[in-house]
Amino acid sequence: MKLSAEQIQANWIEFNTNIETYITGDRKQKLLDFYQKYEDRIILMPASHKKEYHSAFPGGYVDHVNRVVKAALSMSAVWEGFGCDMTTFTQEELVFSAINHDLGKMGDEEHESYIPQTDQWRRDKLGEEYMHNKKIAFAAVPDRGLFLLQSHGIQYTFNEMLAIQTHDGLYDSANEKYLKSFMPETKPRTSLPFILHQADMMAARIEFEVEWLPKFSQNSVAAPKKNYTLNGNIKSSKTKALNTLSSPGLKNMLDNL
Ligand SMILES: [Fe+2]
Repeated sequence: MKLSAEQIQANWIEFNTNIETYITGDRKQKLLDFYQKYEDRIILMPASHKKEYHSAFPGGYVDHVNRVVKAALSMSAVWEGFGCDMTTFTQEELVFSAINHDLGKMGDEEHESYIPQTDQWRRDKLGEEYMHNKKIAFAAVPDRGLFLLQSHGIQYTFNEMLAIQTHDGLYDSANEKYLKSFMPETKPRTSLPFILHQADMMAARIEFEVEWLPKFSQNSVAAPKKNYTLNGNIKSSKTKALNTLSSPGLKNMLDNL
């Protein structure tokens, strides 16, 4: 799966528009500033390191996050239609959690979490387009994301903390303490974590279907062909996108699209 340079740029505009539209108070500008500071890295990040997972291609992260925001808004309407108590969280909390749920995937202030895989065997045989950057200490994705927000002075509410922390649902056993309780008083007091988890799971599943089902119907799991041609227009917008990047590594990745 490949995104064109134009798609990558359009996704970035949508990402920032979601912040402009749904986030309020002084944290709106702080969030915009944060994402502008790390724009070169985030705009081309994959959503995962392995192509068998979801959206493991340049621009896959922002593409995934935008889909989760849309899915969270739609999923919220479904829950409301079934009688969910919508007074227990706000729309801003829903969108803030969706925008930042996977932020921990970016790595720390200095280093990216995912860097291009240098081992050709692992690339070919295991589908690992990227590898974890050994320069950064391990942290779970939700923990690192929340740390990044607080270390840049971006406040989040209790609901947002809980939703980001548990967005993988019971796929992450660390969430059992919040989601597998049999005592009413220790269950979440809001449905926000469940709505975000369903939105994230749906987005990842759709990404899998778009990327992989056509290959299965062709009885082929070979490396995907590029889904666009480098005609004049795309090439010129690609050159434009390349010129906006300062990171040589990311320039190289985008140049290879
Ligand atoms: Fe996600």
